[in-house]
Amino acid sequence: MTDIDGARLLESLRTLRTFGARDAGVVRPTYSDVDMAARRWLVETMIAAGLDAQIDGIGNVIGRSPNPGPAVVLGSHSDTQPEGGWLDGAMGVMYAIEVARALLADPDTAHLAVDVAAWADEEGTYASALGSHSFVGEITEAHLAAANAEGETVAEALERVGLVGVDPIRLEPDRHVAYLEAHIEQGPHLEASGNRIGVVTGIVGIAGATVRFRGEQNHAGTTPMPIRKDAAAALFEFGVHVRARFAQVAGPVSVWTIGNLGVHPGAESIVPGEAWCQVQYRDASADVMERFADTLAALVAEFDTTGPCAVSMERGDKGMAPVTMDATIVRAIGAAAERRIPDAWVEMPSGAGHDANTFAPHIPSGMLFIPSIGGVSHDFAEDSHDDDIVLGCQVFADAVVSHLDSL
Ligand code: GLV
Ligand code: MN
Ligand code: MN
Repeated sequence: MTDIDGARLLESLRTLRTFGARDAGVVRPTYSDVDMAARRWLVETMIAAGLDAQIDGIGNVIGRSPNPGPAVVLGSHSDTQPEGGWLDGAMGVMYAIEVARALLADPDTAHLAVDVAAWADEEGTYASALGSHSFVGEITEAHLAAANAEGETVAEALERVGLVGVDPIRLEPDRHVAYLEAHIEQGPHLEASGNRIGVVTGIVGIAGATVRFRGEQNHAGTTPMPIRKDAAAALFEFGVHVRARFAQVAGPVSVWTIGNLGVHPGAESIVPGEAWCQVQYRDASADVMERFADTLAALVAEFDTTGPCAVSMERGDKGMAPVTMDATIVRAIGAAAERRIPDAWVEMPSGAGHDANTFAPHIPSGMLFIPSIGGVSHDFAEDSHDDDIVLGCQVFADAVVSHLDSL
């Protein structure tokens, strides 16, 4: 079996961390200056690893193996959440590069074709998994019109970063036989169970909506309580109802969050005339996802009818459908884990969305997880133990080799 170089992997990961480093975490939103600088560094790093690398027309960094196919695509994303950890996405990108360079350096595996990618905007600064959607040929006008929090659209951002006129690179059905992605777990299960590798069996779906409340802006001192149309009060009451009503239709591991909200004009002495919140829900079952969608729509209609504020909603365009991982790849990763760490790995679902959601309907796909310390992610404090990072990459490399050898 080919040995990866753990010290080289950790050093590369720490270099990637410097692009947008903030406290112990990273702020590297898609198409920001640091994101593009990181992508240019990734191109150089992939070229040094023996790959033919470039940034394509949507911002994906793709490093193509010089070997003929069949090829596996390995990758993850290099953008981050507005307050992101240093490993979410970045680790999977550096595993992919480390596996490619380790395989090319070993005469036993140098013939294997491993194409490597750092996808653009998995985190949805503009549109979730934008880069992987481009790779599989699913970019729509809605994607190009999707805007970041400052109102810049994808089309405008591509012009700003100089990618207009650059061709997108696409999945090649005659070459690409599988997609494999490694990631931190971002949850507590591996650490709590003492397992060092998670073999992902399926990934939850993600959907949601922005709910808007329209009342009447007025003086906070002189407007009697019975006649107020306080949009913030309506929002808070709505939030309490979401919690109770979603619980009635949830599956055993469903989750939901109101992760963002606002009131207008947002002053201590003004009864807010407008308010909004973003509701997100996740489950691996399409039926449960539909129940959440119906429950949310019913709640909006009830609040709108009852008043005193008008309530409406816009479905989010940042969702992902639930997917199942390929059984052969699940077995390959499990067998690789069993060889390195007998009985210290487990099959598990993913509660986080990934670029693998995009790939699973197109080519056989699989994911490997390593433990997250304290189960923390989407936070500057996100971290994993160095020995778990190195072990995960070795198991990932073993699984890639055995899967390619089996074809
Ligand atoms: C992806 O980062 C997610 O929010 O699951
Ligand atoms: Mn993330
Ligand atoms: Mn991620």
